[in-house]
Amino acid sequence: MDAFARSSASEILAGRSPRAVEIRGWVARKHVIGGLAFVQVRDGTGYVQVSARKGSSDAAYDAAKRATKESAVVVRGEVRDDRRAPGGKEVSAAEFAVLATADSWPITRTAAKSASFLFDKRHLSIRGPKAIATMRIRAEVIGAAFDYFRENGFQLISAPSFVQAAVEGGATLFSVDYFGKKASLSQSAQFYEEAALPALQKVWIFQPAFRAEKSKTAKHLTEFWMIEAEQAFAEQSDNMKVQEGLLSKMVERVLANRQTDLKTLGRVLRQPEVPFPRLSYDEARSIAESKGFGFEWGDDLPTEAEKAVSLTQESPFFITDYPLSARSFYHMTYPDRPKVTKSADLIAPEGVGELATGGQRIHDYHELMERISSQDLPTESFSWYLELRKFGMPPHSGFGIGVERTTRWIAGLKHIRSASLFPRTLTRISP
Ligand code: 4AD
Ligand code: MG
Repeated sequence: MDAFARSSASEILAGRSPRAVEIRGWVARKHVIGGLAFVQVRDGTGYVQVSARKGSSDAAYDAAKRATKESAVVVRGEVRDDRRAPGGKEVSAAEFAVLATADSWPITRTAAKSASFLFDKRHLSIRGPKAIATMRIRAEVIGAAFDYFRENGFQLISAPSFVQAAVEGGATLFSVDYFGKKASLSQSAQFYEEAALPALQKVWIFQPAFRAEKSKTAKHLTEFWMIEAEQAFAEQSDNMKVQEGLLSKMVERVLANRQTDLKTLGRVLRQPEVPFPRLSYDEARSIAESKGFGFEWGDDLPTEAEKAVSLTQESPFFITDYPLSARSFYHMTYPDRPKVTKSADLIAPEGVGELATGGQRIHDYHELMERISSQDLPTESFSWYLELRKFGMPPHSGFGIGVERTTRWIAGLKHIRSASLFPRTLTRISP
């Protein structure tokens, strides 16, 4: 026989491997009937069925028969077409080596019914097919962002996570002791992006954000990854186009490259049409009211109201023109409507809700100064942010979109924590 060529499960199933292969992976499933052992080997690219036959290679058969679930194995053998095997190919083992034997797998069928047990054992449960499919989709979503921004002339930057100023208000800040001084973990890199505009004109960023959110919902994490973009000489309408383009690209790439994973998750995803529908805050509020989820003008959409409005739409859409009272201090208002901001949330349909928040920023020094004092904010914390307005700050706008929320919607997940490998929530900081 030829030398065994190291091949992946996906290459083998796609018919892109030689006949004699070596696979390195983990025992996902196994059953033994008569003198035949069938082992599903998972190798990070997919699953491939291995068979070991007594009488053909006794050593391989004995090793396969003894191999426990989740043991790490190296198999050498020959690829054969077999209609009965998942994917239509099977590797008949000539050699079967167990490199690391696994203890009895704790995630039994019964145990797997408890979501909290699965998350307690997340370091192990991430090997499950749905978690794997989700992580692949998440990576595709992130990869699409890298491509989208490169193609559209946005420069990638980085910013610190230790900060002093609250971008999104003090209520959700995590404080840390910074050599005896009070510091916080960054809620958003927006201010650093704004600072980078006169240097780079169009920037984007991809990094963790922290929120001491006391909300125990299907859409809140305390640590999550945010993609943010900011451009100079850009109105809010330009900003919304970037968000549409980005989300469309993410969906397009997942549809093009992650069909198997969508199927594993039972997700039917459709390419949204551009432009996305736009509802004003007032329209959204009437819809919510008509569904029995009324709220005061000026409040942010309560989760239930947002969900009710989201359920009325077929594709992602924007809710525009939020009241200033529901927005952070830096938002620009309309000249003729001082209580209404040039801002929007990008909302996913199907009851999922907010994916992104964006808006146009105040670029005038005096206007921002006035806003900061009228809201009784500590001017000192915002001194450098204010100073930017003294040195050529043009009209500019930007947004932030949550990676886990977006993955949750695209992958059709019930809860945001499934979109994170090791989620951090109100009640979870381990594993
Ligand atoms: O809506 P947010 O708070 O907006 C900002 O932080 C702006 N400064 C962004 C900007 O304009 N550059 O957060 C942006 C997005 C939300 O729409 C949501 O997708 C996500 O970040 N997000 C969260 N995701 C998970 N858990 C949380 N607790 C989140 N809080 C916000
Ligand atoms: Mg928001």
